[in-house]
Amino acid sequence: MKFQGSDAYVATPDLMLAVNAAITLKRPLLVKGEPGTGKTMLAEQVAQALNMPLLQWHIKSTTKAQQGLYEYDAVSRLRDSQLADVQDSDKVRDIRNYIVKGVLWQAFTAEQPVALLIDEVDKADIEFPNDLLRELDRMEFYVYETRELIQARHRPVVFITSNNEKELPDAFLRRCFFHYIKFPDADTMRAIVGVHFPRLKRELLAAALKSFYDIRGLPGLKKKPSTSELLDWLKLLVAEDIPAEALHSGDDKVAIPPLVGALLKNEQDVTLFEKLVFMQRHNR
Ligand SMILES: Nc1ncnc2c1ncn2[C@@H]1O[C@H](COP(=O)(O)OP(=O)(O)O)[C@@H](O)[C@H]1O
Ligand SMILES: [Mg+2]
Repeated sequence: MKFQGSDAYVATPDLMLAVNAAITLKRPLLVKGEPGTGKTMLAEQVAQALNMPLLQWHIKSTTKAQQGLYEYDAVSRLRDSQLADVQDSDKVRDIRNYIVKGVLWQAFTAEQPVALLIDEVDKADIEFPNDLLRELDRMEFYVYETRELIQARHRPVVFITSNNEKELPDAFLRRCFFHYIKFPDADTMRAIVGVHFPRLKRELLAAALKSFYDIRGLPGLKKKPSTSELLDWLKLLVAEDIPAEALHSGDDKVAIPPLVGALLKNEQDVTLFEKLVFMQRHNR
C-alpha cells in the first residue's frame, strides 16, 4: 500500500514520503499549508490511489468532536412519541433508533478499510482536537446511551488538514505525523498547471508564472494568491484568449496584468500593487 502520486495530482517526493510514513506508523497525517496548496485534494487522491472510499468531515467553528462519533436525536424521539400510533411505539422505545452515526462511527464500522478526512481542524475551538485524541488513538469509543463499544474493524487512513489559523495542542501533535506543504516552486507549479491545462501555450504559461510570482513577492500583501487562484486566472486568460504579450510591460518591469481580480482579493492589495507599478514606471 504505497502512494506514488497520481495523474491528477502533483505530489513532491517529500509529500509522498510523508503519506507513506503516516500509513506505516498508523498515525493520522496532519497536513498544514496555505489555503489552496492541495491539502484537501491530497486526501481525495490518496484515497483514490489506494482504492479506498473517502469519508469527509468538514470542520466549522461550531463543530464539536462528539458530532463525529454520534448524536442522540432527542427532539425526533419526543416528536415521534407524541405522534406515534401503537405500531410505531416500538421504534420510540428503542433509543438506538435515535442515535445518529457520525463520520468516525461510519469509518470505524465500514466493511472495507477507508480513508477519513478531517478537514480544516483549526476552524473549530481549541478543545476540538483534544476531544478526539483518544478516539483516534485507540480507534474506539463508547456509546453511553446504548452501552455499546464501537471499535474500528479496520484502522482508517486518517488525514487532518489545517490552514494554520490556530495552534494545535501538543498532545494532539504528538500523535500525528506532520507534513507542511511548502508553497510550490516554479517547477512544481509548472507541473501542477500542466495537469490542469495540458495544452497551455508555453509563452503564456511563462508570462503568467512570472506575473504570479512577482505578485506573491510583493511585500505587505494581505493575502497572497495561491495555486487555486493561479489556476482560476489561467482559465480566464485562456477563455478570453489573452496573448502572452498582454502580461508583459515590454520593459520587463511589473505590469498590471489583465483580470488581476482572480489573483488579488481585496482592495488594499490591488491599490498596493497599482502604486508599485506606478512608481516603477516613473523610475525608468
Ligand atoms: N499538487 C497539486 N496538483 C494538482 N492540483 C493542485 C495541487 N495543489 C493544488 N491544486 C489545485 O488547487 C485546488 C485547491 O486545492 P485544495 O486541495 O482545495 O487546497 P487546500 O485544501 O489546501 O486549501 C485544487 O482543486 C486543485 O485544482
Ligand atoms: Mg481544503
